[in-house]
Amino acid sequence: MKSTTPPPLHLVQSQDLPRGISSVRALPDAELAALWDSIVVEDGIKERLLAQAVLNYTLRPKVARSVLPMHGVILLVGPPGTGKTSLAKGLASTVAALMKGAKFRLVEVDPHALTSSAMGKTQRAVGELFSQSIAEQAVNGPTIVLLDEVETLAADRTRMSLEANPVDIHRATDAVLVQLDALAASHPQLLFLATSNFPLAIDQAFTSRCDLVIEVPLPGAQAARQILHQCLRSVGETFPSIAKLADSRDLDRVAEAAAGLDGRTLRKLIVNAMALRKETALDPNKLTLADLEAAARNAQSSRAAAKGGHQ
Ligand SMILES: Nc1ncnc2c1ncn2[C@@H]1O[C@H](COP(=O)(O)OP(=O)(O)OP(=O)(O)O)[C@@H](O)[C@H]1O
Ligand SMILES: [Mg+2]
Repeated sequence: MKSTTPPPLHLVQSQDLPRGISSVRALPDAELAALWDSIVVEDGIKERLLAQAVLNYTLRPKVARSVLPMHGVILLVGPPGTGKTSLAKGLASTVAALMKGAKFRLVEVDPHALTSSAMGKTQRAVGELFSQSIAEQAVNGPTIVLLDEVETLAADRTRMSLEANPVDIHRATDAVLVQLDALAASHPQLLFLATSNFPLAIDQAFTSRCDLVIEVPLPGAQAARQILHQCLRSVGETFPSIAKLADSRDLDRVAEAAAGLDGRTLRKLIVNAMALRKETALDPNKLTLADLEAAARNAQSSRAAAKGGHQ
């Protein structure tokens, strides 16, 4: 008889993973824990995410679904670059660290590997991912599954255009819902962390199955300052003059100019600022707050132009 014992995680190669799963790793994980700390959001967001995820392991397995119909799904929505994926990965590690004793795993799903132009194939691939690949992972112990860009898997069936196989996508959404119900009933140690930039594109039947839907907003001026400060400090470990910028009072001016930009753009601002002049590119220690302010203004103009283009 064929052995069903899975290989140790460090021996799992990505090409050996089933279709639709891009990685499996043991939790907690130091790199992911650092991600959790690196995201600046109001404390309430992290606290609620963590409490909901912990309840999945303390409450859900012990109370009948007829009493508390938990599905083990948390959805993070918000504009691009606000830290949703980082928070989801960091949350997985933080929950595992809190729930001492159990061997948690993080399974990352790549939804794009499942969509196919051939009629009926997407539905089958999605069905297999949940009913076989994820279920097999879940029997190994507490499992957290990252469903990034979930709108591609659970597309709103009422909004489908008639292009590109709407029937197939419709059925794929049906398959996700059926499988979520089945897994929720059979695997209470399974937790899905889903993210999306397009909450309106997600099927409402999926959203209604979520135990928590949390909005991750764009950083405000205070958070923008904190992100810039943290980033300058880290770069300053290699380029000492940059650490001094982090502690300057004038960083407030840069933060004001950067208010409304997303976290990804804020981190990139430092590189963009260095790329404004040949001198700073040759010697990053020459970076000034004026460079950063100019980069912030450029980013605001690009953002306004992109918005205008989408209207
Ligand atoms: N609030 C934040 N605080 C600190 N850094 C942030 C924040 N938001 C985003 N970042 C940084 O921006 C980068 C992108 O973050 P991430 O991929 O988690 O965003 P996302 O919301 O998932 O984006 P997308 O919607 O485009 O997938 C990361 O390097 C992250 O550290
Ligand atoms: Mg993301």
